[in-house]
Amino acid sequence: MSETSLKICCIGAGYVGGPTMAMIAKQCPDIEVNVVDINESRIAAWNSDTLPIYEPGLDEVVKEARGRNLFFTTEVSAAIKSSDMIFISVNTPTKTFGIGSGRAANLEFVEKCAREIALHSDGHKIVIEKSTLPVRTAEAVKRILNSASNENASFDVLSNPEFLAEGTAVEDLLDPDRVLIGGESQEAIERLADVYGRWVTPASIIKTNLWSSELSKLAANAFLAQRVSSINAISALCEATGADVDEVANAIGTDSRIGPKFLKSSVGFGGSCFQKDILNLVYLCEHFGLPEVAAYWEQVVLMNDYQKRRFSTAVVKTMFNTVSDKKIAIWGFAFKKDTNDTRESAAIYVCRDLLEERARLTIYDPKVGLEQIKQELIYLMTSEYGTLSEKHRQLIDDNVEVANSAEAAASGAHAIAVLTEWDEFKDVDFDAVYRSMKKPAFLFDGRNLMDRCKLNKIGFEVYAMGKS
Ligand code: NAD
Ligand code: UDX
Repeated sequence: MSETSLKICCIGAGYVGGPTMAMIAKQCPDIEVNVVDINESRIAAWNSDTLPIYEPGLDEVVKEARGRNLFFTTEVSAAIKSSDMIFISVNTPTKTFGIGSGRAANLEFVEKCAREIALHSDGHKIVIEKSTLPVRTAEAVKRILNSASNENASFDVLSNPEFLAEGTAVEDLLDPDRVLIGGESQEAIERLADVYGRWVTPASIIKTNLWSSELSKLAANAFLAQRVSSINAISALCEATGADVDEVANAIGTDSRIGPKFLKSSVGFGGSCFQKDILNLVYLCEHFGLPEVAAYWEQVVLMNDYQKRRFSTAVVKTMFNTVSDKKIAIWGFAFKKDTNDTRESAAIYVCRDLLEERARLTIYDPKVGLEQIKQELIYLMTSEYGTLSEKHRQLIDDNVEVANSAEAAASGAHAIAVLTEWDEFKDVDFDAVYRSMKKPAFLFDGRNLMDRCKLNKIGFEVYAMGKS
């Protein structure tokens, strides 16, 4: 396996597989990278001018390498056969059935990948866990691989979790804080480290045993989410006491031991990772007989649920205890700015609460459309009640619409709820927006994005997280 003939395959062309492999292909023009997926429309989108995910800077990276040494295809078995290294980057959602339902990771897709690799491999392959997995998953992956019927097939298994954040994926991949590689075979670890070493400094490539690597990914997400829940807990106390959460965050964040990042109070964290990975950690702790540790981490998720509910309750209470038949403009539906990803977005939960209060919602998000919004609401209501009742379908069909700008969404509305921190919301002509709204005009800032003084002067009644 000389470096010039190295062939890489990545199973899973999602938010991680696509950008990660595009970056490897960009930085290593001599390495052939095949990204494979069973989802035909996703692969077609990766091969088109409209990529399936929105990520600043990604179009340029993909355009540079696609067709040269970066290929997107549904030919899974062929790509496995011809590759030296195979990344598994498939989804590992929270289980919704059976043992561990609502907590454990669903490893069905990872196991299917391992079986496909075992079936189609000939010669030596390095199999790399890129998906976020429970500790000791590599043990199961190894056992499945070693049951391969082809006697010429042999495998090394590495853990190489991904730390990119959506919205900043390209810069995170280009200049990562660290690359983590866990494994048993030093030779395999070095081969993968050589790939990243083309653009990442050796000091930033951390090499550990398999289990430390798998656990570090869960722990990193748990620590990050814990900071958000901590500042959100403080935001509730700020509202009760007259303190200002941004001032508190600044005051504590200047302590170099605490640091300023991830102290922005919000309507609650969302995204496909934080909640899923903490619940997975909680399940593992319970599995290993550590209920106190499980309860400690579960509190991070419970605090997040509390924050989302606290926000929607504040909207209803502030608007004279009823939002029934009132138009509310929802600014932002993605779980953070600069992404079209809505998985576990706090906006889904707030919109669900407001719909149940019979509000009429007009939603504007620069990257999310009506179908995706409806699907998220239907998914949440179905999973919470086991089935989608006629009442809930009606609520969604009759009371959810989208607008094509923030201003249009606010026109004629009783209130605006800012749920994603898109930069363009700061540049809105608030004088005009105010004039177009019903009075009193309320603005609920779930991201502490707006200049409250300016809005108050215009006439808005402003509620912001952690501000009394
Ligand atoms: P995703 O749902 O966007 O993509 C996963 C893809 O895998 C899908 O397109 C699906 O069709 C494909 N797939 C599933 N089974 C397959 C199979 N047997 N063969 C071929 N393709 C298959 O998921 P994602 O957000 O890219 O996350 C992937 C993994 O990376 C998860 O474990 C996640 O926890 C982890 N992770 C995600 C992020 C993030 O920001 N999204 C960051 C770090 C780590
Ligand atoms: C996270 C991790 O940051 C990343 O390392 C990992 O690989 C995947 O999970 P991501 O979920 O894409 O990345 O975005 P992140 O920037 O971490 O934000 C997660 C959520 O927390 C968002 O809803 C965001 O708005 C919220 N958040 C973040 C806050 O509310 N306040 C903060 O200070 C930071």
